[in-house]
Amino acid sequence: MRFMEQREYWKSRWEKVERKPANNFARRIFSLIKNKKFKTLLDLGCGNGSDSIYFANKGFKVTAIDFSESGIKQLQKEIRQKRIKKIIPICQDVKKINFIDSYFDIIYAHLSLHYFDDKTTTQVFNKLHRILKKKGLIFIKCKSIEDKLYGNGKKIENNMYILNNHVRHFFDKDYMREKLGKFKILKLRKTSCIYSYKSSFIEAVATK
Ligand SMILES: C[S@@+](CC[C@H](N)C(=O)[O-])C[C@H]1O[C@@H](n2cnc3c(N)ncnc32)[C@H](O)[C@@H]1O
Repeated sequence: MRFMEQREYWKSRWEKVERKPANNFARRIFSLIKNKKFKTLLDLGCGNGSDSIYFANKGFKVTAIDFSESGIKQLQKEIRQKRIKKIIPICQDVKKINFIDSYFDIIYAHLSLHYFDDKTTTQVFNKLHRILKKKGLIFIKCKSIEDKLYGNGKKIENNMYILNNHVRHFFDKDYMREKLGKFKILKLRKTSCIYSYKSSFIEAVATK
């Protein structure tokens, strides 16, 4: 499926979804970074920005990127209404981000990097390495091949499927390790939780 169609998918998804509190991944990460001298945080694929707002309220200068117009519009509205100063919302494709080298202390990607084919995934991860500061931290959570949805729908390439217009590229630990090849991996683990079905993930923390 082509890029524009996925953008449309996420535009209509965020038109229907209400803002939720920050997710547990964000909360756990905050407990790891709160005592460090980090300031700049990139929320990659921020959706309607629940986690961006959470991190901004904790004092981080947040750059929030998503290619869903409706997600970013919801975030902009919230920023105006609540007069939140510390978030820069940007409607952009993750594949096209272009920041100066070593710009961010923290890169945070909650369920937003498991959408690309292998070649693009490599390019995106390498770009993230370039824009992360030395000794900065990157936190990533992606769907895993143990997820209940794995294998459903039409296969696009290895571990990548399209189901009901939604593309997903499922990770395993080795794949995450390979994509983080330029980083120093600090933690790599499988997690799972129950939504309406058992959902499984690979989570990684890495530094430069
Ligand atoms: C499962 S949602 C997660 C949203 C948010 N991180 C959260 O946890 O609430 C995935 C997000 O990734 C965004 N996304 C997917 N592909 C993208 C791309 N190529 N460029 C920018 N954003 C993208 C979608 O628009 C969507 O908001």
